[in-house]
Amino acid sequence: MSLYEHRTVKSVLKGIWTHTLSDIAMFTFPYQVTVAVHKLRGVKVGKRSHIGRNCLLDDHNPEMIEIGDRVGITYGVKIICHKRDMSKYKYGMNPQQCPFIYGKVKIEDDVHIGIGSTIMPGVTIGKGAVIGACSLVTKDVPPYSLAVGSPAKIIKTWTKEEAE
Ligand SMILES: CC(C)(COP(=O)(O)OP(=O)(O)OC[C@H]1O[C@@H](n2cnc3c(N)ncnc32)[C@H](O)[C@@H]1OP(=O)(O)O)[C@@H](O)C(=O)NCCC(=O)NCCS
Repeated sequence: MSLYEHRTVKSVLKGIWTHTLSDIAMFTFPYQVTVAVHKLRGVKVGKRSHIGRNCLLDDHNPEMIEIGDRVGITYGVKIICHKRDMSKYKYGMNPQQCPFIYGKVKIEDDVHIGIGSTIMPGVTIGKGAVIGACSLVTKDVPPYSLAVGSPAKIIKTWTKEEAE
């Protein structure tokens, strides 16, 4: 079986469109232009959110990414919405024979994602959460939490009581 059998003309054209805009978004600035290019690709972005340079927002399924209001996505962040389903992978196979599985990524309002971090498929980052630089986020992050490391762990949570 060909590794590329599932591809159609429409999916190839869509890939060229989203990949080209993705590459353009890598070096655009100021951030308003970068945000506009990602919106054109299909990423949902709320009000007053920043997207830095050199960010990769899923090349294949940008419409599966939802970014809230006042979010800071800093330089070099990667957000991924697809990965290979490795559950049936066996010795002698090629990983590309495994089908893709998809997961929407939701970044809620007021989140800040540190430089060079990667957000994996299916993850929701709760309102007001902070992701430390170069973290790999594989699971949901609760609101007003600080997650750092690879894989990212919660090391702090800000509470409403502390703010009063
Ligand atoms: C996560 C962050 C916000 C924490 O800042 P902070 O509250 O001042 O925390 P500290 O520096 O006191 O670190 C607290 C602990 O987390 C660890 N830590 C901090 N940042 C980390 C990171 N990115 N990855 C892994 N561990 C980290 C520290 O080593 C320390 O561990 P310890 O308690 O075992 O000593 C900050 O380190 C960070 O990564 N900010 C993002 C920076 C960035 O992306 N800048 C460019 C764009 S604006």
